[in-house]
Amino acid sequence: MNTNNQHKPTFFIKTFGCQMNERDSEIMAQLLREAGYAESFTVNEASLIILNTCSIRAKAEQKVMSLLGYLRKNLKKNPNQKICVAGCVAQQEGIEIIKKMPHVTLVIGTQNIYQLVPALHYATQGGSRVLTSLQDKYDIPRFLPNFSLDSPAPPFRKFITIMQGCNNFCSYCVVPHTRGREVSRLAADIVDEARVLVENGVKEITLLGQNVNSYGKTNSVVEGGVRGEYGFPRLLTDVAALAEKGLRRLRFTTSNPKDLTDELIACFGEIDILCPQLHLPVQAGSDSVLKKMNRKYSIAGYLDLVDKLHKVCPSIALTTDIIVGFPGESDADFEQTMTLLDTVRYHGSFSFKYSPRPGTKAAKFPDAVPEEVKSARLTRFQQRQDEISLERNQEYIGSRQKIMLEPEIGNSLLSRGRTESNHIVHLQEPIDGSPGDILTAEIIHAGQHSLQGKIETQGAVL
Ligand code: 5AD
Ligand code: SF4
Repeated sequence: MNTNNQHKPTFFIKTFGCQMNERDSEIMAQLLREAGYAESFTVNEASLIILNTCSIRAKAEQKVMSLLGYLRKNLKKNPNQKICVAGCVAQQEGIEIIKKMPHVTLVIGTQNIYQLVPALHYATQGGSRVLTSLQDKYDIPRFLPNFSLDSPAPPFRKFITIMQGCNNFCSYCVVPHTRGREVSRLAADIVDEARVLVENGVKEITLLGQNVNSYGKTNSVVEGGVRGEYGFPRLLTDVAALAEKGLRRLRFTTSNPKDLTDELIACFGEIDILCPQLHLPVQAGSDSVLKKMNRKYSIAGYLDLVDKLHKVCPSIALTTDIIVGFPGESDADFEQTMTLLDTVRYHGSFSFKYSPRPGTKAAKFPDAVPEEVKSARLTRFQQRQDEISLERNQEYIGSRQKIMLEPEIGNSLLSRGRTESNHIVHLQEPIDGSPGDILTAEIIHAGQHSLQGKIETQGAVL
């Protein structure tokens, strides 16, 4: 760490929500470091606090507002502290945030993060405190990681955002309103970013987008090229070629089932380093609910995809997202979600109570499901999922799995790893190695949320 850090302004970023936000926070952190800031590890003392927010459900948004209230009190102790609100709540609420919380220095929208440093400067010099322009067509700037400025240890696993926004307008979803129309980054920029990561020791990359399957459909991703000529399977293949330089694992998220093509499914059989794992959000098990959600696929079509995936890659671990209590969801509709869960037997799922979001179509739908019914459905779904996750995990007992070592959260000991299928494996004792090393473990025990393993090849890093 730079010895001049005590003289530098400092920043602290608190990130809410999805992995896209995590990656945006990393980009903002790099921009700030390049502008001479150092990272602060305490909120209270930082010269600048950035809240990178999420508005996918009402609860996420409430958390931001209560944190802003807390920060207002802290300003009494640290009156020069600057507060910036970024992300989806910033995009959606804009000036309203400043009206409610006048202590906020800057509100910056989802497409504007690359202008963070000048926008902050401008806002503190008496200029506009809101920068939330959302364009339908724009170029995502070329941006390469800069590890010379990155703290602390070099990472072994990284996300790369390959596109922004979403054009699907699922009727419950705020994302098309907060992140705008779908725009894909240039393929060469993504491959270059991946190359820089791998050259700096990154062993696993996850490609991120709201709907990665439509990468390259709305704008050309090849300079001077034609829209649609270079798609997601091609990008996967080009990034996977970095296996030659040391990339060991490749994942992607999220896929909308309506755009999951045979060509992409085939990649699971063809690309060695593509991990046998797919998050395929279904949202509901009833065709009539799916229609009202504007999801544009049927359960029969979805199950067809699941079959094809299993044929190409029998060991694939599927996970999903579920919304319970969408307006008009009857008991019979919900039973179909439970049936689907028993049919696919997901390895895991994220399940949520429907939360009406401002500006979305579903927010105006009649027949709201009562809160207690939503809660009861959520509990039932999650209990059954837990049972299935346990059974799924037990299927691994006795098998040998390649696990990538990772540090325990809040602890540098290497006593856990992750399988290719993305299951966490706790080891009996810490391993002498580096994060990102791959070892073979025998799975000896399974719980609902993780596995336990015994290293077979201690010392022999694969
Ligand atoms: N209410 C509840 N859950 C939602 N999601 C998106 N919008 C809403 C909403 N309004 C869930 C979906 C999506 C995940 C990221 O969040 O399941 O896949
Ligand atoms: Fe939201 Fe649907 Fe787009 Fe996903 S695909 S971000 S759920 S609108």
